[in-house]
Order: sequence, then C-alpha cells, then structure tokens
Amino acid sequence: MFLLLLTIACALAIFYIKWTYTYWQRKGFPYHEPKIPFGVLDAVRRRKASLGTAIYDVYRSNKDKVLGIYLITRPALLVRDAQLARDILSKDFESFHDRGIHVDDEEDPQSRGGIFFLKGRDWRSLRIKLAPSFTSGKLKGMFDKIEDVGDRMVNFLNNQLTDGGVKEFEMKHVMGTYAIDIIASVIFGLDVNSFVEPSNEILNVSRKVNEPTLGSVVRGTCQFLYPSLEKLFIRLGWREEAPNMMREIVKRTIEMREEQNISRKDMLQLLMQLRNKGQISVDDNDWSAKATDKIVPKPMSIEVIATNLFLFYVAGYETTATVASFTAFELAQSPIAMAKAQLDVRAALAKHDNEFTYAAVQDMKYLDLCIMETTRKYPGLPILNRQCTQDYPLPDSDLVIKCGTPIIISLLGIHRDEKYFPDPMLWEPERFLNGKYESAAYMPFGAGPRHCIAQRLGRIIVKVALAKLLLNFNVELNSERKEIEIANFGVPIMAKGGINVRLSKQNPTPSA
Ligand code: HEM
Repeated sequence: MFLLLLTIACALAIFYIKWTYTYWQRKGFPYHEPKIPFGVLDAVRRRKASLGTAIYDVYRSNKDKVLGIYLITRPALLVRDAQLARDILSKDFESFHDRGIHVDDEEDPQSRGGIFFLKGRDWRSLRIKLAPSFTSGKLKGMFDKIEDVGDRMVNFLNNQLTDGGVKEFEMKHVMGTYAIDIIASVIFGLDVNSFVEPSNEILNVSRKVNEPTLGSVVRGTCQFLYPSLEKLFIRLGWREEAPNMMREIVKRTIEMREEQNISRKDMLQLLMQLRNKGQISVDDNDWSAKATDKIVPKPMSIEVIATNLFLFYVAGYETTATVASFTAFELAQSPIAMAKAQLDVRAALAKHDNEFTYAAVQDMKYLDLCIMETTRKYPGLPILNRQCTQDYPLPDSDLVIKCGTPIIISLLGIHRDEKYFPDPMLWEPERFLNGKYESAAYMPFGAGPRHCIAQRLGRIIVKVALAKLLLNFNVELNSERKEIEIANFGVPIMAKGGINVRLSKQNPTPSA
C-alpha cells in the first residue's frame, strides 16, 4: 500500500513538474530551457550572479523578440525587443499598469500604500498626489540642501588631501556617503553628516538594508519577482527590521515638527502638507504643512508617508551613488572626456557669475551627456518589471500574452545590445550627439506613466556631486583601464569590489 501511494505521489510530482516547466512550450512561445527548480534564478541562488546579470545572461543567449522564462515555478516573459518594451511601458500601458510585486494588503505596509507596489487605481491616485513634490520648482527649493552636502563631501576629501598631496579614494564609499546624507536631508528632513559621524541613525538603518547576506538576497529577489514567496515569509513572521526602523524615525520627526511648528524644504514636509491640507501646493514658495481650519479628510496616514519615504530611500540611494561613482570612474579612464567635462562645468558657472546655482547646474550640458552614457552602460536598475493586466495579442504574431503574466525587460541587455548601441562597452558620451544609438532603446529611468517619479531629482543629485568633484579635484586612475565588474548580489547594479580613483587638488573658483 505504502509503495503504491509513493508511486502515485512520485507520478503526480513528475506530472506537476512537467506541466509547470512546459508552460511556454504549450503556449507556442520561444523559451529558455528551464533549470529545474529555480529557472533563471538558479545563478542567483548559487550566488554566481545578481538578479540583473542573471537575466542579462539569458538576454544575451538568444535572438528572439520575446522569450519564455521561469522564475522558480512562475512562467514570465522576457522582452528582448526595445520597441515592444517601449509599447508595453507606454502605448499599451493599460494592459501592463502593475508592477506585479503587490504582496498582501493585510500584513505588508508596502503593498498597502507604497507607490512602487500599489496596483491599478490606487497606484494612479497616489502617483497624482505625489507628482507635485518632484517638479523643478520644488527641486529648486531643495537645491541648497543638496549643495550643502556636496560641499561637505569636498571638505571631507580636502581634509584627507593634506599638503596638496595625491590620494586614492574608493568612490563607491564617497558617493554612497554623499547619497545617504542627501537622502537624510532632502527626503527624511534630517541633518546628518556621515562624512564626519559615520554611525548616525540613518546610516545604521541603511547598512541593514544593504547587507549582502543570503537573507537579503532572497528577500530582495522575492520582493521583485516572486511576491507569493514574499507573502509566505511575511506570514511566517520573517520581518525586515530596516523599514520599521525608518518608520519610527519618520514618525518621530513628524511629531516633532508638528509640536514645534517647524517648516523645512524637503520631501517629508511636502508629504505632511499633503496629509494636513489634502494636496501638495502648486505654489513653489508654499511649504507650510499647517492644517487649515477647514476639516479635510487626511488622505495619507503617517504609516503611508513613512512607507513612501522609505521607498524613495530604497529607489534613490544605490542608484544615485552608483551613477555618480561609475561616471567618476569612466571619466578618470577617459582624459579627453574629463577635460571636456571640467571645461563644461567651469563655463556653466562663468555664465552664472560663478555662482553654483540650480540654473548653473542645468547649463552643464556635457556633464549631462556623461551621466546619460553611464546610465546607458550601467542602468541603475538593470531590469524593469510589469504584470500583464489584460490579455495582450503580441504584435505581428499569433501569440497572446495571458493576463497575470509577469513581464521582465532587461535594461542591461537592451542598453548593451550592439543592435541599438554600436560598440556598447565603449563609454562614449558623444554617442548621444552623433545619433550613434536607437532612441527607443534608451530608458534608464523606465518609460511611460510609471517611469521614475524622481528622474529630475536623481539627475540633480548626481550632477551636483560630479560638478563639485570636477571643480575641486583632478580625478585619475591608479591602474590601467578596466571594466567595472557588477556585483553578484542586490537588485540595483553595484560594483564588485571598490571603485578606486586618485584625487589631487585643483584651484577652485571662488564659489565652487
Ligand atoms: C540616477 C538615479 C535613479 C535612477 C537611474 C532611477 C531609475 C528608476 C527606474 C528604472 C525605475 C522604474 C521605472 C519603470 O518601471 O518604468 C524607477 C522607479 C522609481 N523611482 Fe527612480 N531612479 C533614480 C533615482 C530615484 C530617486 C532619487 C528617487 C526618490 C526620491 C526615486 C524614486 C522612484 C520611485 C518612487 C519609483 C517608482 C515609480 C512608480 O511606480 O510610480 N528614484 N527609478
């Protein structure tokens, strides 16, 4: 009897496995031969690749426009065609408006109110409410705070370069410290100086988020690609500490501001304004969050504010630090581009009476090209994801993408595809001037209604860091030319090992 039951169980298991891993075959789609049971996540499980590079390897292994893959048992579609990717993100957004990472309204605060996770109407309504916080007028208001942190970075580097000396610095660490202080100031409304006080509260939470432990790799991957497993972890009580710690910090700051009637130009203030006044003011000079006499239903709880600020941190920290440090590294490898960038920064300042202003930074056009090229070669987020929200007939074919199917777009794959960007491993800012690229294929901030809400802020943060660096220091390499190796963990792109460059002092212009 036992043997019979065992045989039936084995037969059922074999049938289930065969059925599951032949989904794409049965639907007639081209597919990537599945590695059972992890599918394309096998290399991530073995810690041989990060999520982005594992998907990139699959992208490079094939030529079809779409490719059926398996995220463990979950069939997903990898899009390998830039125009189709753009259509999915923009023109056909109605069929793909969700990210497909929503976990659980009851137990998961991020799914309940986090812009990255929300679905359908809930997402749209929050996006409309938050959008006014990211206008150029609001960014101008926050610019002084960004510049202050840039100056602290310059002071820190100057203090290390005594007697006009030359020193090697690890740029990932320098730009990471800069990015965390910007986020503390501009997003959480806290003045910290991590360059001189490397154990403040925000930095401690950040270290927790970015620990490259097996647990964080598993959670990061599941949050992005396998929400049902994430739900199971949450239900089993495997809580992540960092979001709760951040929530506590935000709660405390809001209470303090309300009690002491403090107003400050930052994101926290704008979300308090949204909570107390019902909307974020379109008047760029109005930062008051004082509730009016009129009773307005509070559209946002403190928990939702904290959740979104935490998500801004997650989305903005690693991406800005990576783009700034990788650009510094590529510039150090390319003396001609470096000279052009330094000239560009000085010329823009000269045009603005040598004042380091928002308008002057906007005028640093060659620096823009450098940043564009870095985000092309190393897109901060190497994959974009969506979920099909209604059956979608694949253009020019008889195939139909079924509602519910996860869609993965390999930005790293598309941005390094010679079909769209000739000589893709060459870091060449001029390619954006001489048309040496396919514009539909360039989408480092995503595309369509769900593109990065903070694109402008991300660019400004990176530009200020680089402009300050180029104005004050010569940046060179110690060793010969090399490629940055991408780390084998994490969702955003990170460098394996250090990004080492050699700095020496320049004579700064008076206000730089
Ligand atoms: C250079 C820096 C940055 C890069 C390269 C970047 C890139 C991206 C990308 C590729 C996406 C996905 C877009 C899509 O799915 O179509 C995204 C979404 C997002 N980013 Fe950024 N980002 C950067 C900086 C920031 C910063 C500083 C913040 C916060 C203050 C931020 C907040 C967000 C949010 C909230 C979303 C989700 C938007 C939504 O679902 O509606 N990002 N970002």
